Parts: sequence; C-alpha cells; structure tokens
Amino acid sequence: MRISDSNLLAAIAALGVEHKPDVSLAQKTSLEIGGTSDVLVIHKHESLPGLIKLLKEKKVPHRFLGGGSNVLLPDGELPWVVLQLARQDPDVRFEGNNVFVDCAADLGRTVTTCAKHDLGGMEGLIGVPGSIGGALRMNAGAYGTQIGTYVREVKIYRAATGQIETLRGTEINFEYRHTSFALDDIMLTVRLELPSKSYSEILQGIRICNEKRRASQPLNQKSAGCIFKNPPGGSAGRMIDELGLKGHSVGDARVSDRHANFFINAGHATASDMLALIADVRSRVREKYGIELEEEVIVWKEQ
Ligand code: EPU
Repeated sequence: MRISDSNLLAAIAALGVEHKPDVSLAQKTSLEIGGTSDVLVIHKHESLPGLIKLLKEKKVPHRFLGGGSNVLLPDGELPWVVLQLARQDPDVRFEGNNVFVDCAADLGRTVTTCAKHDLGGMEGLIGVPGSIGGALRMNAGAYGTQIGTYVREVKIYRAATGQIETLRGTEINFEYRHTSFALDDIMLTVRLELPSKSYSEILQGIRICNEKRRASQPLNQKSAGCIFKNPPGGSAGRMIDELGLKGHSVGDARVSDRHANFFINAGHATASDMLALIADVRSRVREKYGIELEEEVIVWKEQ
C-alpha cells in the first residue's frame, strides 16, 4: 500500500519514523516471494504507540514484518503498509547469565555472540534463520531446544493496550511453535537467562547441529523452513515423502528433494504458486492419512 497523504507523511516523519516508498518485499523474505508496499522503519521503540495510533486514526491498514524467514507474503501491491524495526546498536548486552537482546537481532548471530561469553543452551537454534522477535513469537525450536525455555522477560508493544509493556516469562505460554502473544503484538527486547558453558563445549554442540541440519535440510535454497507443523506424534515431512511428493511442483514452487516439509522457490515462484502447492499437498495428506496439516509458515492474508 502506498501512503500519499502529505499530512500523514509529515506526522510520520515527526515521530522519527522513516518512510520507504514502494519497497520490493520479496527481497525481505527468505522465500523471495512477495509484492510491494511502503515500509515504515521504526528506529526508536518509543515511537511505536504514537505511530500505530496515527495509522489507526487515519485508517491505514498495517502489518509488522520481522526477519522475513517464516512468512509467505502475497503478490502484487500489498493491502497493508509494512512496519519494521531498525536493528539497535549494540543489539546484545550481558549481565552475568542474563542477556538482553534486541528483537530485530539475528537469531544465529545472537547464539554465537552468547557462546563467546560462555553462555550456551541455544546451540540447537544455530541454523534457524530469522530474528530474535520471530523466534520468540513462534517459540522457534530445533534439536530439543526451544527459545521459550530461556525467556525471563519480554518488552512488547501490546496492541490491546496500545502501550509498551514488560511481560515476565512466566506470564507467557510457550508451546510447540505457538505462544500466547497476540498476532498484532510487537516484540521489542527480551531478557534471556542462559546456562554457563565453556565456549569449546558450545561450539561442539553447534557443530553437531549444523551437520545434522546440512544433512537433512535444503539450506542453500530459498525457503521458509518447514511449511507445516508436525501433527501430534507424527511427521509432516515423512508423510509428504511417503506420498512420493519430493520434487512435486506448481510453477516454480517445489517440494524440496532433500526434506519434504520444505517447499522451495526454485526460480520465480509467486505466492499463488506456493499457496496452490500448499493446498495440493495438504489435500493429498488428508486423503491418504486423514490428517489436516496446519501451516507453520505465517501466511499474510486479508481477514
Ligand atoms: N523424514 C522423511 N523424509 C523427509 C523429511 C523427514 O522421511 O523428507 C523423516 C526423517 O527421516 C525423520 C522424521 O521424518 O525420521 C523427522 O524429520 P526431521 O528430523 O528432519 O525433523 P522434522 O520433524 O521434519 C523438525 C522441525 C524443524 C527442525 C527439525 C530438527 C517442525 C515442523 N520441524 O523437523 O524445524 O529443524 O525438527 O529439530 O517442527 C521449522 O520450524 O521451520 C523447522 C524446519
């Protein structure tokens, strides 16, 4: 969506928020799929309540985009203005076993920065792409680790109150790829409490997880990680594989040959291609196994 109202643009600038017109959003997502929209870059967390109030008053639909590694955006001009947080500098701060991390920080880089301070626990998350905020919202997990375990406090913009608030870790439910945050809450900073471990021990754990991941996931291809959540007690990847669907495609959207729950953009896939592939695979799984797979990737659609 384009903002053309000059009064609104002036009010946005007065809040210290940067306006970037007509941005190609495909470049902001790991799938490299998505149309265009104006982007509002928030440099100071404190400007968020005023900005969102303003957008609501002016009836400008908006959505928040994090690291872009677990989303499928629509094609064409998006019906929303896109909000993004600028990364703070520094984005990680240490106090003993407590780590204060800016939610725009890269997850993998945070894991290695913590390792250099002899703080571990998050080794399993090393190859998970995306931001700390996205990892929190989804309770990102891999190889037995999930980020929620280490969360002690989160500062968020809370949509329900229009204010910035701090939640204690115990007030948040962290479940399998799901949390109790509202969809329009925006994660700002998090305090993690990590166990002390030697750098070499953490590096060893990181190396093992990296090897496992390289052996089973298409890391050098454009994807949003796993497309479907695993059903209770089952494996979406194994079911799709058993159906012989590796390599199955709609346009340039393709089921990975390496891991059947990764759908890749093999060239110039559109959101429609990807959605058609998701629908097709879901219906084949339903037919064969009687299981309705739920998306793990966040699909931006109009309510
Ligand atoms: N399998 C197949 N064929 C495939 C893929 C998997 O037979 O094409 C089998 C494997 O051999 C294994 C089982 O299915 O026996 C499970 O596979 P895997 O160990 O790869 O784990 P997964 O359940 O498919 C989950 C997470 C991944 C995470 C890995 C490692 C979900 C939806 N996926 O995958 O997370 O990296 O475990 O912990 O929970 C993501 O969230 O985007 C993601 C990729």
